[in-house]
Amino acid sequence: MAPAHLARRIAEAADVVTVALDELLPRAEGPEARLTEAMRYAALGPGKRLRPFFALETGRLFDLPECSVLRAACALECIHAYSLVHDDLPCMDDDDFRRGRPTVHKAYDEATAVLVGDALQTVAFEIMAHPDTHEDGEIRAELVRRLAIASGARGMAGGQMIDLLGVRDDMGAVARMQRMKTGALIACAFDLPLTMARATDAERQALTAFGRDIGLAYQIVDDVLDAEGDIESLGKAAGGKDAARGKANFVTLLGVEAAKQRIALLTAQTKAHLDVFGERGRFLASAVDFVIERKT
Ligand code: IPE
Ligand code: IPE
Ligand code: MG
Ligand code: MG
Ligand code: MG
Repeated sequence: MAPAHLARRIAEAADVVTVALDELLPRAEGPEARLTEAMRYAALGPGKRLRPFFALETGRLFDLPECSVLRAACALECIHAYSLVHDDLPCMDDDDFRRGRPTVHKAYDEATAVLVGDALQTVAFEIMAHPDTHEDGEIRAELVRRLAIASGARGMAGGQMIDLLGVRDDMGAVARMQRMKTGALIACAFDLPLTMARATDAERQALTAFGRDIGLAYQIVDDVLDAEGDIESLGKAAGGKDAARGKANFVTLLGVEAAKQRIALLTAQTKAHLDVFGERGRFLASAVDFVIERKT
């Protein structure tokens, strides 16, 4: 697919998701309005909406109703937004800029940023558990369970713990951390529609492997951009910030060139998982290059 067409489709998905999030996120009148405003600041800022894009495309692959998949995609994006708010806190990565604007604890304060993360996390499950997400209560419970696993100690939060500890035993340990802190939520973008579609084992296996590999590649790209990118294009601090802070990742352990080789290998491996879908998988395959070649 032509890159311009792909870029347009990704941008359209991002707009649809932002509008839906705006409707789904709470508003308040009383003093708690500070919290709902800060939640909106965090979630509605100019993110790429990559995870919702993948969820929507997977929904299309299975002819699922877009309004249902959109709710699940928004729930996932709320978890992602919460993870970024907490990731930026002084006790974690201590970052001042995100998506080209001051981070939540800078625009508001630290305690508000903690609450924003808490409340974005719970609203994610509120959105997911609502009957509009799927008519079958058992499927809804399964969606909630899968999102919880991807977000928690066996997924994103567990990976963030390993990141903070700076574990650098070997490349296997670093890959595991990356798969947990970033890969789990990206893989969830495929897992949720697969669950809604009651997909076959073969379909689930293929897309789960695809999600895992693209999730890992995505984090290595993020680490390369940290080394080579700048705040103007990324909207967040870079210039070797991870290396300066002693972070363990593919770039700080192997160097930029070896990390890029790893990305190239993973890219080919990622696309191969889509073979079972034949023509139907072509769009997702072309999206891989687009996502991996990102500069923002
Ligand atoms: C940033 O995620 C953190 C990582 C897991 C690499 P994104 O690059 O998807 O950030 P936004 O949502 O577009 O801001
Ligand atoms: C964070 O990884 C991944 C999360 C789970 C939030 P990074 O710490 O590298 O993400 P950025 O570079 O701050 O976006
Ligand atoms: Mg971090
Ligand atoms: Mg960070
Ligand atoms: Mg980073």
